Amino acid sequence: MNCLPLIEAKREGKALSAEQIRSIIAGYTGGRIPDYQMAALLMAILFRGMDAAETRALTIALRDSGQRLQFPPDPRPLVDKHSTGGVGDKVSLVLAPLLACLGFRVPMISGRALGITGGTLDKLESIPGFRSALHAKHIIDQVQKIGCVICAQTDDMVPADKALYALRDATGTVPSIPLITASILSKKLAENLDCLLLDVKFGSAAFMQTEAQARELAATMVRLGNECGVKTRALLTDMHAPLGHSAGNWLEVREAVACLECQGPADLEQLVMECAAQLLVMSNAALDVAAARSRALEKLRSRAALDKWEQMIAAQGTDLKAYREKLRGDFPGITTEVNAQRNGFVQSCDARVIGEVVRDLGGGRMQKESQVNVDVGVDRIRRPGKSVRCGEVLGRVHTADLAGTRDACERVKTAFVIGEAKPEILPLVREVLQ
Ligand code: URA
Repeated sequence: MNCLPLIEAKREGKALSAEQIRSIIAGYTGGRIPDYQMAALLMAILFRGMDAAETRALTIALRDSGQRLQFPPDPRPLVDKHSTGGVGDKVSLVLAPLLACLGFRVPMISGRALGITGGTLDKLESIPGFRSALHAKHIIDQVQKIGCVICAQTDDMVPADKALYALRDATGTVPSIPLITASILSKKLAENLDCLLLDVKFGSAAFMQTEAQARELAATMVRLGNECGVKTRALLTDMHAPLGHSAGNWLEVREAVACLECQGPADLEQLVMECAAQLLVMSNAALDVAAARSRALEKLRSRAALDKWEQMIAAQGTDLKAYREKLRGDFPGITTEVNAQRNGFVQSCDARVIGEVVRDLGGGRMQKESQVNVDVGVDRIRRPGKSVRCGEVLGRVHTADLAGTRDACERVKTAFVIGEAKPEILPLVREVLQ
């Protein structure tokens, strides 16, 4: 096909028709449009944007490039949560089993770490034996039987997005609201959900640096998700500081398990409760968010979600004996404290710096193919608003060996600002869009 007139039209700021967008996606996945032309079109889209009809056509073309998960009829609603990514964000690990206990089916298709943002699959793969690559039949059977799964996209799901995302990553065309919207929603629509909750983060360690950009992305995704027949809401959440006290794959699993044992950090528990409560209201299982929050909290306190978590990871290959030993055991490698140099209050802790340290220690990826070290990271992170005395711990750095330990500790120190006055702490969840 001749793609050139369509590239020129978009370059001039014209809208493409749904049929043109469909044929571009079919042409690209069928190898009839070369990467250089697709890259030029993506760059034109990044600068010129797409209107609502174009974004919708792109989302549907991507969704329909592969197979959708087909679940049998069941009174339990199909729901999922998607986060745009941050540092220390282990909400999915706690939320999926909790939602299963609250009467939902949760086919949570998740991603891997890239850059400074952590990936749910890398976290889970720090558990001995855990498998994230599952066939569609396993995904469906596990959801029907246990109520939840957290796994990778199968090869047959949304292949056009996989190819397009790799090209965007290599051509500087990721940060475009219509392209991000189509990429995220196409994958969620392929799960055939009833309700979707989006956690759109803003701040130093988020995709969207400002609240205004995050609101625009959230509003676009909420509008389109609802138009495509999935009840969709979005939370706007703060990602200036890491979520919880830990960043790093295994450290985050430990913190998620602590949360399931009702001993987790308050901000993590609060965000899990908010996500569960919104989904209860969206699916008409609760009348209002306050009542839904207490129901979710009661379920967490009952420890039913902790049992469900173990059922889920066991169904995905976990050696429970080895997992429990790892939970009780010491950290492999070297643990070094970073201590405060003065008395005061933590004014801020830059999540970007912490994310970069974890990534550079090997806990994240520079390139898609890189292996991650699941045991490195930073824990005992002192949260903004907390008081600290000179010599007390601001964070603990876990490294594989001595090389790099000193540099990592110095960098973690620079993430913290300590001041005299107790700072004002803004709410973690700034807004709910529906
Ligand atoms: N996550 C995705 O899956 N796609 C994007 O474009 C951005 C974030």
